[in-house]
Amino acid sequence: MYFIANWKMYGDLKSLNSLSKVIKFSNKHKKKRFKLIYCPPYTLLESFSKKIAKTKIELGAQNCHFEISSGPFTGSISPSMLKKIGSKYVIIGHSENRSNGETDNQINKKIKSSIKCGLKIIFCIGETITQKKKKITNKILRNQILKGLYKTNNLNKILIAYEPVWSIGTGVVPKTSELDKNISFIKNVLNNNFKNKSPKVLYGGSVNPKNAKNLASIKNIDGFLIGGASQKAKNFIDIVKKTII
Ligand code: PGA
Repeated sequence: MYFIANWKMYGDLKSLNSLSKVIKFSNKHKKKRFKLIYCPPYTLLESFSKKIAKTKIELGAQNCHFEISSGPFTGSISPSMLKKIGSKYVIIGHSENRSNGETDNQINKKIKSSIKCGLKIIFCIGETITQKKKKITNKILRNQILKGLYKTNNLNKILIAYEPVWSIGTGVVPKTSELDKNISFIKNVLNNNFKNKSPKVLYGGSVNPKNAKNLASIKNIDGFLIGGASQKAKNFIDIVKKTII
């Protein structure tokens, strides 16, 4: 199981203190089969990288530019810069960026450049509430997958994060049956169109210590992408505990 903390635009050097608890927890359960990955804002990547060195916790970034190494792109960060600073993962296609104008084509370019750099991708997909009401969720998910992963036939480096937009930060999570159905659908699309036969699909959207156990009972779920609840070490640890320990 993957547990990925997406800190979004939150956190400063002080918030790194909370990591000590998580490091202790991770060391204590070294033999258990789960992965903890932190995706803090760019400004904290280096400090995080130092703090989690020699632990099992891994580092990821929240976005990147599609240009692989460098160029005249004010305010942007390239995949190779992320790699050099110690990131192993990068989140791409988050709905908070899609809603700011990020296109499937840009997402596809970012994914390809990041893979070339040796990063693993946390590729976010998900329908909006309007799309859900129109009953076009499957069409939207298929489109996002096929466009985002266009000509990326090796999925070994890719984790899909299914995040219904209406669940993010709202406290509302899909019904177990709906989530089960959508995750199975995503796995089918991946299996039918790409070489890797066991793609990993995570769920994201209002995961917290109270709902984690129930969400994890869905057999197809390979982990969680966690926003708000990941900022407090106790909540993050509790989610892991409720799920697998
Ligand atoms: P949330 O965010 O857990 O705060 O809903 C999840 C995400 O946006 O990745």
